[in-house]
Amino acid sequence: MTDSTDQLFDTIADALVDKGYYFSRKPLPNLPTSSLQQRIAQLDAEDALKRAGIGRDQDHQINSDIRQDHIRWLQTNQPAEQDYLAWMEALRTGINQRLFMGLFDYECHFAHYPKGAFYKQHLDAFKGRTNRVLTTVYYLNDQWQSDQGGELILYAEDGKTVLEKVLPETGTLLIFLSDQFPHEVLPTHRDRYSIAGWYRVNNSLNAQIDPAH
Ligand code: OGA
Ligand code: MN
Repeated sequence: MTDSTDQLFDTIADALVDKGYYFSRKPLPNLPTSSLQQRIAQLDAEDALKRAGIGRDQDHQINSDIRQDHIRWLQTNQPAEQDYLAWMEALRTGINQRLFMGLFDYECHFAHYPKGAFYKQHLDAFKGRTNRVLTTVYYLNDQWQSDQGGELILYAEDGKTVLEKVLPETGTLLIFLSDQFPHEVLPTHRDRYSIAGWYRVNNSLNAQIDPAH
């Protein structure tokens, strides 16, 4: 890792300790954008993104009242996806070195929110009931205007106090503790692309089998 990456990981670790989340609007060193934009456009054209389900045991029970995105999990056999996963793997190690969080692995999916789509307020993890501990969201939309909807609203634990309104602009990265921050995606007025991911801890010691996504 380069010095600038080390400094960035310091900044991310400090923000997680201070506030529980990190947010950057600036493009970050070595984190790809255009190759991922091309990749998700290609997947979309191939109809490879599928309606997302709700909850860990009901993947096929699509609930369009809650979420309306189309997703596909990233894989290691394609260069753009591999680059992104490699960056997140470096961050996993970097955070573990600094904060001893014991992050064990990482999974993430491309998401396409078509015009009109939203994801109502939710938590990505419930205390003690999941192994998802840290959420990442990375955005891939050039020139997002403030009147185009599709903001991610990050709330304090009360679910009411707004901490951040995040425009899904290319290069923006948000990282937060999965069980502490309710969040939602407001209805979008144009196609909206993101990569949502989760660092997980290994819960097998608690005899909790982690179901497949
Ligand atoms: C999620 C999520 C936010 C986004 O997939 O759980 O909250 O902006 N995504 O894509
Ligand atoms: Mn979420």
